[in-house]
Amino acid sequence: MASLQSSYTAAVTNYRRHRHRPPPSLSSKPSHFLTQTTPTHRFHVSCNNNNGGANPKPSPESGRVDRRNMLIGLGGLYGAANLIPDPKALADPIQAPEFKSCSEARDVQSGDVLDVNCCPPPSENIVDFKLPPVHRMRVRPAAHKVTKEYLAKFEEAIRRMKALDKDDPTDPRGFMQQANIHCAYCNGAHDQVGFKDLDIQVHNSWLFFPFHRWYLYFYEKILGKLIDDPTFVLPFWNWDNPKGMQMPRIFDNPRSPLFNTNRNQDNRPPAMIDLGFSGATEDLQKVVNNLSSMYSEMIRSVNSTIDFMGQPYRAGNSPSPGMGSSERGSHIAAHVFVGNPKNRYMEDMGNFYSAGRDTLFYSHHANVDRMWSIWKTLKTDVPKDLTDPDYLNASFLFYDENKQLVRVKVRDCLDHRRLGYEFEPVDTPWLNYRPAKKAARAKIKDISSGAQKADGLFPLTLKKVTRVLVPKTAKGKADEVLVLENIETDTTKFIKFDVFVNDEDDKTEELDKAEYAGTFAQVPHKTKDKKGKSNITLRLTELYEDIDVDDDDTIVVTLIPRSNGDDVTIGGIKIIPSPPRSG
Ligand code: C2O
Repeated sequence: MASLQSSYTAAVTNYRRHRHRPPPSLSSKPSHFLTQTTPTHRFHVSCNNNNGGANPKPSPESGRVDRRNMLIGLGGLYGAANLIPDPKALADPIQAPEFKSCSEARDVQSGDVLDVNCCPPPSENIVDFKLPPVHRMRVRPAAHKVTKEYLAKFEEAIRRMKALDKDDPTDPRGFMQQANIHCAYCNGAHDQVGFKDLDIQVHNSWLFFPFHRWYLYFYEKILGKLIDDPTFVLPFWNWDNPKGMQMPRIFDNPRSPLFNTNRNQDNRPPAMIDLGFSGATEDLQKVVNNLSSMYSEMIRSVNSTIDFMGQPYRAGNSPSPGMGSSERGSHIAAHVFVGNPKNRYMEDMGNFYSAGRDTLFYSHHANVDRMWSIWKTLKTDVPKDLTDPDYLNASFLFYDENKQLVRVKVRDCLDHRRLGYEFEPVDTPWLNYRPAKKAARAKIKDISSGAQKADGLFPLTLKKVTRVLVPKTAKGKADEVLVLENIETDTTKFIKFDVFVNDEDDKTEELDKAEYAGTFAQVPHKTKDKKGKSNITLRLTELYEDIDVDDDDTIVVTLIPRSNGDDVTIGGIKIIPSPPRSG
């Protein structure tokens, strides 16, 4: 493995160098990953947000969730640009569910019965979480680097957790009980307190990172307790690093309790993950695409805190207002990579109700958690913390390692170190992966053939690759974002499409280029009416510099369906001045 990996290091760099002219000025801080060869990337994450101060504030209405509309079931404005939370729109935080009113997991769609009961055992005895004293930091290791001793412990802990299922199926620490936590918080088993007709859904919103951080925290504590080792930590699947871009081999040993047969057999190691669903066939192209899509979802396409974290979701809101860039990017890609396409719902990892039955799920999410922690350290101009009280005070319930039911709040998990763990340091080569500047500017008149005017084209069902002319708000390199509005999906399907700007060659399997603007994706999940509606916002500031928009007042947006384009309809497309970064 070692030699394969170091040859990647050189090969990936070379591969890119041959395909792109290096940019004229290199102010490079190469990571270890790129050190042996000439770096082709400028390290540059600051952005030009100086647009003459001309960014008008969107009207309060555009950021407001009209609760009355939602409550009377009209769907309200919830698809309509929750871009900026309006302080006046504060409702209440999503409250921890009442376990006693948990209902059996309902059908994913009518006539299509899922025979799953994922309700947790009820308990009247609830305590509020208190931050533990941290004596020594526990360090979560990268799964591809763990020692034999560590692996033996991890396997023993999982073995015991699985044994609990047989010994006492009502023990909330058992393997299936733990898996069902995910199902219940996501497949409509828990209602919002006070809103019997609204589910709690921990995906597709700003609850995504905090919920999963808490979920893993208790899972890890339970595993530690089962082997009597309070220092135990989960390993993370390091899919953002070329060395970790396959299923970690410790999960692929049929004799190990970490093994799971419900996985895509074609994607067992050494198959390389394709985080951007680019469809690339060569491993090297997959690696550069992976690093490019990481760079995009962590830095380039992110205009505001909400863009990264996910849309506001408060008591009384319909579930699933919209995912952040990381949730819909690498996070979903790994679910779909591992889930078995031969199973009806891509069980286990390809569907929320079953994802927690795969031991790999928790290591996948340990890396998602790590991405959140890394994002918070980036020196970009986007504020790293949400301060909205409806976010900070949202709460969940989990059973701890002593079977005690504990109420936790989002505010207590914002700094993972205060929970007593951190991550083994490994390289993050995507940090340097700003694409090379385009050598020559594409002239709008040359690339607009086949492009259609946006007027009259929307709502657009994405049956095929579609090129749209979109007017800018200002000429040239303005500080702007692209908004795709009212994206309506069939929530029972896996959906994915990509967005490119002023792309000439339509080589859609290459994401490592300046024209790649970002992505939309959805994992199948349960909603009452099988319909999801959301918006995405993609920042264009850096992209404009790299493709050199010069004084153009229009761009050509290419929409590329990757999966189930027939089941997604885009309501509208527009460019607006960058909304404020916070919120
Ligand atoms: Cu809760 Cu990755 O899903």
